Amino acid sequence: MKISTRAQRIEPFYVMEVAKAASTMAREVAHTERPMIFLNIGEPDFTAPPLVQEAAARAIRNGTTQYTQATGLEPLRERISDWYTQRFGVAVPARRIVVTAGASAALQLACLALIEAGDEILMPDPSYPCNRHFVSAAEGTAVLIPTSANERFQLSADKVQAAWNDKTRGVLLASPSNPTGTSIHPDELRRIHEVVSARGGITLIDEIYLGLSFDDTFGHTALALNDDIISINSFSKYFNMTGWRLGWLVVPEALVPVIERLAQNLFICASTVSQHAALACFDALSIAEYERRRAEFKARRDFFIPALNAMGLNVPVMPDGAFYAWADCSQICSKLGIRDSWDFAFEVMKQAHVAVTPGRDFGNADTHHFVRFSTASSMQHLQDAVARLRAMLA
Ligand SMILES: Cc1ncc(COP(=O)(O)O)c(C=O)c1O
Repeated sequence: MKISTRAQRIEPFYVMEVAKAASTMAREVAHTERPMIFLNIGEPDFTAPPLVQEAAARAIRNGTTQYTQATGLEPLRERISDWYTQRFGVAVPARRIVVTAGASAALQLACLALIEAGDEILMPDPSYPCNRHFVSAAEGTAVLIPTSANERFQLSADKVQAAWNDKTRGVLLASPSNPTGTSIHPDELRRIHEVVSARGGITLIDEIYLGLSFDDTFGHTALALNDDIISINSFSKYFNMTGWRLGWLVVPEALVPVIERLAQNLFICASTVSQHAALACFDALSIAEYERRRAEFKARRDFFIPALNAMGLNVPVMPDGAFYAWADCSQICSKLGIRDSWDFAFEVMKQAHVAVTPGRDFGNADTHHFVRFSTASSMQHLQDAVARLRAMLA
């Protein structure tokens, strides 16, 4: 069977190979004193809070499960709009919000609406692998630009300007980033936006970790800058609803009918049950619970990052949000005679029974030196993982 060039251009998700190996080994060591600790998974260990669960059950019981409008339930769009006002002080009218099946569908819609075959989209290296594949699926080309720790592993206006050519259509940023947990400084973001706008380009920003910030300098939405910015968001991370498949995007008003038309045809709508449930995310009790969990994520970061640094797994930039640690294992690898971060990840899995993600998926530049730890695991697990790693690396 002839497979389309489009499909062939999508690279394998190597993380899944590691995850598969980790689950096989987890079964083997499940009944030992050291069962596998999974620090390779980028999803909250919390689930939706009680009010959200009850709202989902109510929707099912009452049979309010028919298709919704392609743009989403009106009251949900309103609540998301209110969240922007109350939490971030930014007016984002509900009519500019389109509810989707997670950030993944939002990114697909944005890419399909805006990218022509052959267009180039600038992205930082390292970055979340699926984002460049959404660009490829729209027959564009993701151009990865190597970033450094002193740029917080984010693009800079100077680099965007230097990389821009006739084929460049815009930038796709993510702040805070997966795998680094670091955000773009607001001043740099403003400068990037100016460079892009001056060239008639588009600024797409994946803000899926918005709300999960630990530092006031960075916890803002790019939507404050300008109405032409396209922001992608989700109920997966701050709202702890990964498998519920719900997210949204905010687009300039003129783009809403285009996104609506694509969404009608490609998805009909996001899950109705999840949409009804998500209405309860914004109740005071749910928000209080989310904030308690955010404090827990911060406490985990404050324990885990210094512990990694102390054992030579250097995290060059303190994450200001999300739940990741992007750690340089190159010195440890040289010391132990391990080839690169891919082999290191397997050694850690075999020797310490701790599953981590090697850098390979996230880009090309320096990723063979890095592994990604997820701190979306209990403090007890993180403490045990640190003790095991310390013993392995001593
Ligand atoms: C940066 C980033 N964008 C998008 C996604 C996709 O999230 P979802 O489709 O669950 O909303 C993820 C998931 O890990 C992510 O880390």
